[in-house]
Amino acid sequence: MKREIIHALEKIVGKAHLATSTEECACYSFDGTGRSFMPEAVAFPDSPGQISGILRLANRYRFPVIPRGAGSGMTGGSLPVRGGLVLAMGRMNRIIEIDTANMIAVVEPGVITGELQARLARHRLKYPPDPASLKFCSLGGNVAECAGGPSAVKYGVTRDYVIGLEVVLPTGEIMRTGVRTEKGVVGYDLTRLFIGSEGTLGVFTRLVLRLVPLPAARETFLLTFSSLRSATTLVAAIFRTGLTPCTLEYMDATAIQVVRDRLDHPPPPRTQALLILEFDGSHAEVARQRQRLEEFLKGQDLTCRRAENDTEREELWQARRSISPATFALRPDKISEDVVVPRSRIPDLVEFTSSLAGRYGLTILTFGHAGDGNIHVNIMFDRRERQEQDRALAARKELFRQVVELGGTLSGEHGIGITKSAFLPMEVDPVALDLMQRIKHLFDPAGILNPGKIFSQFTADSKVSTPDASPSPRHLRIDRKYD
Ligand code: LAC
Ligand code: ZN
Repeated sequence: MKREIIHALEKIVGKAHLATSTEECACYSFDGTGRSFMPEAVAFPDSPGQISGILRLANRYRFPVIPRGAGSGMTGGSLPVRGGLVLAMGRMNRIIEIDTANMIAVVEPGVITGELQARLARHRLKYPPDPASLKFCSLGGNVAECAGGPSAVKYGVTRDYVIGLEVVLPTGEIMRTGVRTEKGVVGYDLTRLFIGSEGTLGVFTRLVLRLVPLPAARETFLLTFSSLRSATTLVAAIFRTGLTPCTLEYMDATAIQVVRDRLDHPPPPRTQALLILEFDGSHAEVARQRQRLEEFLKGQDLTCRRAENDTEREELWQARRSISPATFALRPDKISEDVVVPRSRIPDLVEFTSSLAGRYGLTILTFGHAGDGNIHVNIMFDRRERQEQDRALAARKELFRQVVELGGTLSGEHGIGITKSAFLPMEVDPVALDLMQRIKHLFDPAGILNPGKIFSQFTADSKVSTPDASPSPRHLRIDRKYD
């Protein structure tokens, strides 16, 4: 990066808040994919005005600017794939307002998701989205990726809780979107356009979040099965009975194996799959749901254990949240997917992944948010074994084809980033895809904000515009230890 740009950046954020050394830049070169791209500098802004100044400078000198929260993303959204300046948002971590009367919070993007939740609990309020990384991910990144989590099955995902934003556009203008009310239909819904835009359309500087009352009671059940199919078919059946769990998570035998040691009450050794089911609400409501569940489960081929206290429940969730990083005990690399299928097709998806594992000679595990059909498929491999890596890539392509065939979607919560862009045309209508890219161009005519994300594979080279095109090696190493 030219000296004059560095000087101009120092003037905007202050010398103490700009890093250019290799050591410091290296710390901002990774994310949850485990892949690394070095930035040329890292700025730590503290206000919308500073960010605006930086973006105007980037337009003048044409350097990439990559917004970054806590770097826990799973698809490379915050990686500086084309160099440039990382905009580390960690200093903008103030909780500005908690409006208890109207159940709204106004926060800066660097606030850690779990920390906001802990603060809100003191007011008997709750911000429901609960990604597995909630102890260290930040809300700005959650909004950029439209993060989900176990409680999405009852409460929905990030987009259901963001009602307004303050955003700095790639051209430097500062803009407010949305409302502070329960309803609002004035003009286009620009707030939603930014949610899940993976840092390509603007830099968030304030988030207006809708809250809900903290439920008074909660009950957690661990169901274990000696047959995989009985577990996966039970998911849709549970909803048909009228039960409304606030989480319904699933783990196959391999997922159980990687976290077994973390449980004081591990499932019986021959367990092929488990479900974690939780109800929340008033004490009466939870008691009613528990009774209905017990009636429904009578005579089924499974075991059911109720978590006896908060310690047992937290231990179960801690184990569940550790699966993704813990899988590296199996193989050093993985392709980590977050596909979604209609609930009734989960058994088909899971059976298909078992057949893929057999045919390609790979370890593939499945776990995740079964309640909303959002299954994490982790294809394990060792990239030092070239053939194994090729088999893993081929298995992923088949998986995606099958997901689309089953009426599903390629990503439920991790986004496209750099890891899935080659596959976008498999799912997205070509007219919609073209419109999306025109929107990007309208917001960011110089292409300086987070370039190389979402669309890069088929815009960079028209020859690789079909879903059949082989992903380049840079699509490979997904997801390393992150907690
Ligand atoms: C999880 C992450 C991988 O659900 O989304 O564990
Ligand atoms: Zn997940």
